[in-house]
Amino acid sequence: MAGSILVTGGSGQLAQALARAGAGRVEVVGRPVFDFERPELLGQAIRERRPALVVNAAAYTAVDAAESAPEAAARANASGPGLVADTCRELGVKLVHVSTDYVFDGLKGAPYDEGDATNPTGVYGATKLAGERAVLAACPGAVVLRTSWVYAAAGKNFLLTMLGAARRMPRLRVVADQKGCPTNADDLAAATLAVADRLLAAAACSGGEQGLGGIYHATGRGETTWHGFALAIFEEAARHGWPAPPVDAIQTADWPTPARRPPDSRLDCTRLHADFGVRLPDWRQSLGPAVARACAASDSGAASPASATVASA
Ligand SMILES: NC(=O)c1ccc[n+]([C@@H]2O[C@H](COP(=O)([O-])OP(=O)(O)OC[C@H]3O[C@@H](n4cnc5c(N)ncnc54)[C@H](OP(=O)(O)O)[C@@H]3O)[C@@H](O)[C@H]2O)c1
Repeated sequence: MAGSILVTGGSGQLAQALARAGAGRVEVVGRPVFDFERPELLGQAIRERRPALVVNAAAYTAVDAAESAPEAAARANASGPGLVADTCRELGVKLVHVSTDYVFDGLKGAPYDEGDATNPTGVYGATKLAGERAVLAACPGAVVLRTSWVYAAAGKNFLLTMLGAARRMPRLRVVADQKGCPTNADDLAAATLAVADRLLAAAACSGGEQGLGGIYHATGRGETTWHGFALAIFEEAARHGWPAPPVDAIQTADWPTPARRPPDSRLDCTRLHADFGVRLPDWRQSLGPAVARACAASDSGAASPASATVASA
């Protein structure tokens, strides 16, 4: 199908947001058809569909679980994306690969730009960094979009974790010394499609006549902490009759997790705007509609945020 976009990531937040935003020209593949545990299927899934562009939104995203499953995380985040990129190069299919702010250690003290040195603090970030390198080595014209703190009205994310916790607990504790940029999956999907359209209008995978390949940062504008994010969620949710428990600001040391997280992983998205004319909305503006949908889905029984587990990312 000319101009068609194949999105990996099945039921994932970004994959589903891309399916909504690109209805009619986006096809989403997920497991079992596209499974990083079965590398022989990866190329086949792309060859059979022959899209013009692939968005690789599939990943091992369980940051804490990755610490005790480094091989599975590496297959999904590093070697698997490398195989996807190999196939894209072979077929002349363009590629957008999604990566993370967790490639940084968070010690810079200012928003990171694409040229800053990486230094992941855990297995998830390390495997995602290896994936970026594998993708760009195999397919130098690919675009790697690093994003952060992704949430949607459905899926596994901090927004639903907080809404669920508010229904179960009279008082919450949330870390206030990790800074970052929340990103609405719908905003990220719109930005990804805008990037895809520019790539489709440009040259083939092996370089790009307009020099548009490489790494770009793509997050919601502004910044907050997990604690600030939680307060904003409850401010919005209260409009829909949701309980708004008090939220104590705690330190990372008070909430030990298997994976160490960067204390300040804000990303500078100037390059994305300069090269693609794409800028995501302010995170706070985008939060309200997602909270409204999550509350409505929960009230109608379509989602069950009350079953979410409490975590800081
Ligand atoms: N979530 C965040 O806060 C965040 C932050 C920074 C960057 N990112 C990056 O943004 C991208 C999209 O993330 P997201 O939030 O949409 O993640 P998500 O909701 O966790 O979805 C990821 C999807 O990947 C698929 N997947 C997982 N393991 C797989 C495997 N072994 N083989 C094939 N597919 C597998 C699963 O789809 P099925 O089970 O349906 O097949 C899953 O739904 C990822 O690259 C992620 O690293 C996310």
